[in-house]
Amino acid sequence: MSSIAPIGVFDSGFGGLTILKKIVELMPDYDYVFLGDNARAPYGSRSFATVYNYTLQAVIKLFDLGCPLVVLACNTASAKALRTIQQDYIAKYCPQNRVLGIIRPTAEMLGNITKTNKVGVLGTAGTVNSQSYILETAKLFPNIKVYQQACPLLVPIVENNEIDTPGADYFVKKYTDSLFAQDADIDTIVLGCTHYPLLINSFKKFLPAGVSIVKQNEIVAQSLRDYLCRHPEIDARLSKNSSIRYFTTDDSTLFNRSASVFMGRNVESESIALAGCM
Ligand code: DGL
Repeated sequence: MSSIAPIGVFDSGFGGLTILKKIVELMPDYDYVFLGDNARAPYGSRSFATVYNYTLQAVIKLFDLGCPLVVLACNTASAKALRTIQQDYIAKYCPQNRVLGIIRPTAEMLGNITKTNKVGVLGTAGTVNSQSYILETAKLFPNIKVYQQACPLLVPIVENNEIDTPGADYFVKKYTDSLFAQDADIDTIVLGCTHYPLLINSFKKFLPAGVSIVKQNEIVAQSLRDYLCRHPEIDARLSKNSSIRYFTTDDSTLFNRSASVFMGRNVESESIALAGCM
């Protein structure tokens, strides 16, 4: 691995593959390493300290695998761990490396999309409780009001491959109804969890007509490309052999089966242990 310097992409489970897929489509020349902490997913209802510790262990592993740059392709990890990892770990121990999140680039696009200045965010309990979307949006667009709804059952539905089932429809309807009960003029929805795009068919059934769904994976891919253009010193450190390696903290056969569906291509993963991960 020593001559390879891939872009690391991390998620608690499979959801980050929706981000990886778009990044690879936009920038196919780079090398990538995806790491899913499937053994400990979901992160959504875990404490700040736990999400921070798990995410830091994953980031350190990706650095060890040669990644100079890591994308936290997980809203929960971006909300609860990114800032502390950047300030407390990277700044002290590896200032040459970079870790990026996905909430800020998503918030940056909201001003171009909403007409009513009312945006709904659906996310894990962790992302919602962190208030990250509200805080980031307020810094950029003080006139936009962000409404939130936690959707704790959607990640388990996706992780257990219960997509496009009556059960998925039931919970998507329940959560979207609760969101629009807060304000019927919401015209833009952020699927603020990388697992939720897998439930897009259910969302389309229950969202009011005319509501825009923010495509976080496209935004993050574009924003990463812009970042690398603005930081040629980081770009120059990344290798470009069009390879992708996949690691999971759980069983690799199980991972391969679901990940191949997410990526639309054959996935062969390797099991890996993280410090502190049994
Ligand atoms: N995919 C993650 C996100 O974007 C969360 C999934 C989980 O709860 O682990 O928030």
